Amino acid sequence: MTTGAPIGLKRFLLDDSHTQSIGSGLASAIDDLAQASRKIAHLVGRGSLAGMHGSAGSENIQGETQKKLDIVSNDVLLEATTWSEHWSGLASEEMDNAVAIRNTIGQGGWLCVFDPLDGSSNIDINGSVGTIFSILPSPKKADELTDADFLQPGTNQAAAGFMLYGPATVLVLTTGDGVNAFTLDTGTGEYLLTAPDLIVPGDTREFAVNMSNRRYWSAPIQRYIDECIAGRSGPRGFDFSMRYAGSMVADLYRLLINSGIFLYPWESRDPDRAGKLRLLYEANPMSFIVEQAGGAASTGTQRIMDIQPNNLHQRCPVIIGSKNEVERVERLCAEAEPAS
Ligand code: AHG
Ligand code: MN
Ligand code: MN
Repeated sequence: MTTGAPIGLKRFLLDDSHTQSIGSGLASAIDDLAQASRKIAHLVGRGSLAGMHGSAGSENIQGETQKKLDIVSNDVLLEATTWSEHWSGLASEEMDNAVAIRNTIGQGGWLCVFDPLDGSSNIDINGSVGTIFSILPSPKKADELTDADFLQPGTNQAAAGFMLYGPATVLVLTTGDGVNAFTLDTGTGEYLLTAPDLIVPGDTREFAVNMSNRRYWSAPIQRYIDECIAGRSGPRGFDFSMRYAGSMVADLYRLLINSGIFLYPWESRDPDRAGKLRLLYEANPMSFIVEQAGGAASTGTQRIMDIQPNNLHQRCPVIIGSKNEVERVERLCAEAEPAS
């Protein structure tokens, strides 16, 4: 009997009629992360009552000040994955090195790489934040794992997703068979399918970028944004809107629901740094999601998911969203620096 009620996450993952068969191991692994996110959502939702606002007084390996909630979210995810038979190793924005899971439960087949709390500058202002995750096959048993085993290109991802802790908590997921969004019912604790088969339209009239950094961008990125801003009186012939949340999860959810292009490009103020966002736990999972929704994700010169990583915390430029706009940026980059 069908009730017409929205489908829960676990059933969605295990029922072949809704998704390609991914196996119960991967489905349960994803459910571990969903379970952790319920706790994080609860803490985020309590705001300053949870006592989690403000700095933790420490820095991560990238020299960024850690917020209390960055660390607590990391701990919640570690707890949920360490005491589960599905995982063999974990890496995170908030941990210098990967950790192998060596406990009595067993050695699972998956690696998880995550940004426990994305957009953490939004915590104290009651803005949207989130968790981003990428699931990769584990090439070895936990006993033999090193950081190098996590350095897999985005094309290796078995699943990727993010949880957006906004007015409602939403989980966006791909297992390589389209993109689906689930809303957390805070009454029952269940994630229910509320936005099946998300598609990012090829065209858009909305962009998301930190405009205050314009003077540091390369010429083709400046030109692309300048032409958007010129609107109907410029070469594009129509007006754009700008929206920027300062939290990649919120900006990417917006473009998955509507349309849009999000850019965090290379900047000349720190020329040796490829960009701000991290490849393994920000750019790759978001690229997998957006490509699965029909969009594109590029550095300007290369498909992000084709990058061979050489460091757990490496960064890359991110130009992601509506396909025709991403391709326009790539054309401008190619014109500025033709391949030899
Ligand atoms: P995190 O909080 O995990 O360090 O990530 C913040 C990222 C991303 O969420 C956002 O898009 C970007 O930083 C915002 O950077 P600016 O404040 O430089 O615009
Ligand atoms: Mn982040
Ligand atoms: Mn983070």
